[in-house]
Amino acid sequence: MSSYIELKNISQSFQLNESTVTLFNDLNLSIFQGESYAITGPSGAGKSSLLMLISGLEKPTAGQVAYVKAEQRKTLDFLRADIGFIFQQFHLLPELTALNNVALPLKLRGDKQAINKALVWLDKVGLSQRKNHKPSELSGGEQQRVAIARALVFEPNFIFADEPTGNLDQKSATEIADILFACCQENNSGLVVVTHSAVLAQRAQHTFLLADGSLMDCSMAEAHNKQESNEMFRV
Ligand SMILES: Nc1ncnc2c1ncn2[C@@H]1O[C@H](COP(=O)(O)OP(=O)(O)OP(=O)(O)O)[C@@H](O)[C@H]1O
Ligand SMILES: [Mg+2]
Repeated sequence: MSSYIELKNISQSFQLNESTVTLFNDLNLSIFQGESYAITGPSGAGKSSLLMLISGLEKPTAGQVAYVKAEQRKTLDFLRADIGFIFQQFHLLPELTALNNVALPLKLRGDKQAINKALVWLDKVGLSQRKNHKPSELSGGEQQRVAIARALVFEPNFIFADEPTGNLDQKSATEIADILFACCQENNSGLVVVTHSAVLAQRAQHTFLLADGSLMDCSMAEAHNKQESNEMFRV
């Protein structure tokens, strides 16, 4: 049985001076390994905050986040060891080459094959020719590819990507999305993408809209629309 992350009755709010900013209350969501999810919604709705909660990198104000692996409930420490996170601003280490940035998560785990595995992943994202370049010597799209290779190199069960195509032109955005979805499928990783791009969101198997403090599953509505447009073409 595949692993999954379960969010139950999640609420998140922040205390700012005297006032409380509430992002959402009583939110429920399950994320399964091997499936892809997109979360869309207006700026400030809390998408990035929700991604931090699903990935176990932050804790909610109320509610439970559980990680179920091999039918056993694990602590969030297990979840954190099983995720790759692709940040909007890449967060690559500026003094390391592309190769060493990708090898870093493996080296930190003591993997003696770190460099060889990093080479394989740089090749998968089409960056073999740039392995000795530092982030400042790479374009935005190339840095995003390094960030994807770094997130996937230790083959985690779940990948989280916050606006992975946010700063890219259409051609580069399509290439990055192709790489991200193909690599996650190959690894059987669960993929959660936060995006403002309808084109990117449509590639996911499940789409959610986060707005006004609630999360709406749009997958059913989209399946219905697709079926309707297919029927229109058939007429
Ligand atoms: N640590 C924090 N302390 C206080 N307020 C916060 C904190 N983190 C986020 N917020 C607030 O929560 C709201 C949601 O932020 P978040 O970054 O999750 O939105 P978003 O949906 O990802 O927006 P965008 O599409 O612009 O990236 C914002 O109003 C933000 O100011
Ligand atoms: Mg955000």
